[in-house]
Amino acid sequence: MSNPFSPAQLWALADEFGTPLWVYDAATIRERITQLQAFDTVRFAQKACSNIHILQLMREQGVKVDAVSRGEILRALAAGFTPGFGEPADIVFTADVMDEATLATVVEHQVPVNAGSIDMLHQLAAASKGHHVWLRINPGFGHGHSNKTNTGGEHSKHGIWHSELEAALEAIKTGGLVLAGLHMHIGSGVDYGHLQEVCGAMVKLVERTKAAGVDLHAISAGGGLSIPYKAGDATIDTAHYHGLWNAARQQAETIVGHRLGLELEPGRFLVAESGVLLGTVRATKNAGSNHFVLVDTGFNELMRPSMYGSYHGMDVLRRDGQQLPAQDSVVAGPLCESGDVFTQGDGGVVLPRSLAGASVGDLLVIHDTGAYGSSMSSNYNTRPLAAEVLVDAGQARLIRRRQTVDQLLALELGL
Ligand code: LLP
Repeated sequence: MSNPFSPAQLWALADEFGTPLWVYDAATIRERITQLQAFDTVRFAQKACSNIHILQLMREQGVKVDAVSRGEILRALAAGFTPGFGEPADIVFTADVMDEATLATVVEHQVPVNAGSIDMLHQLAAASKGHHVWLRINPGFGHGHSNKTNTGGEHSKHGIWHSELEAALEAIKTGGLVLAGLHMHIGSGVDYGHLQEVCGAMVKLVERTKAAGVDLHAISAGGGLSIPYKAGDATIDTAHYHGLWNAARQQAETIVGHRLGLELEPGRFLVAESGVLLGTVRATKNAGSNHFVLVDTGFNELMRPSMYGSYHGMDVLRRDGQQLPAQDSVVAGPLCESGDVFTQGDGGVVLPRSLAGASVGDLLVIHDTGAYGSSMSSNYNTRPLAAEVLVDAGQARLIRRRQTVDQLLALELGL
């Protein structure tokens, strides 16, 4: 569990901006980027946290960006990334499907497409000869912290199935497209044995690409680097991670006979530990053997515990800084839904947590919420999106205004 902020700082932010509030620490993000500098290209999977100001920070540090929708391409452009077929390109669009508006946008801005289906290659070839493409290959196995985040194997909808590589290369050749590189992302959460298997699979794909007479310029290791959410969770050895991929890259270079770029595409690793979600305790109550702490933030903000049974460390801060006796509590949000509980493990088990006797008005801090927090928020129960603040060198900057109910209703009124 990471905590970049002091209690006094968090109280000041809650007082100034209100709760629920997302807070990010720029220094933590910069530090994580530095840890990955051995890779030729670090491409931020912006789905983890797509605020334009976070993307700007990434760009200033030399990080490139991945987009998985038209909206994410437009965010990258708004953050100042330069579109085009650079090597490496600033923006890459990764998807398994493409609608007309998205196709028009990638063609207009010359955004390379990381294709997860052969149909996408045909559609692109018909619209844009010479367009640069990556092939996202499903190697036939995957890994994830939950079944919902496993992106490889026959149950995954992602990527082009490994045995279809030659068919995809044929579509590239006949369609007049240019292969930029081969990409694999098999899920989140790393074990090194698995990683070696992925690297081996990549080298074989490069061999087959060469055999099919198609050249390429880079390989991408995808994302998936884990972070320690709770005590005892492993911290990733980024040098070892790079070492394994670099060895694969060297083998691939021997096969193709020239240098290949090595890309990494992390989301969680770069931002998760930079962020906290702040909520205010609004009520406490007992129900049989359970003590409930009810706060003003729910799964409309942080969906991970409800969706995956994910663990997030939590603290309760008292304004006077006083420590109260610990009490096992169920921490729950304001939504009209029983599953709106942050302390719920897989299978609906309520996990006891020691929160220092929370009472109304205390501040709840939910840790490691910089990734897949705000970007997965919803307006469920007609709750406006929370504000976001970026703290840099001690200065807090509002990077997204709190949405208002009026803004939500306006989409439906006055049609
Ligand atoms: N590249 C591709 C093609 C991806 O699909 C993903 C994540 C990433 C990179 C970044 O993966 P990361 O480094 O963040 O593990 N909402 C889930 C995670 C879903 C990830 C989807 N794809 C969660 O909250 O855990």
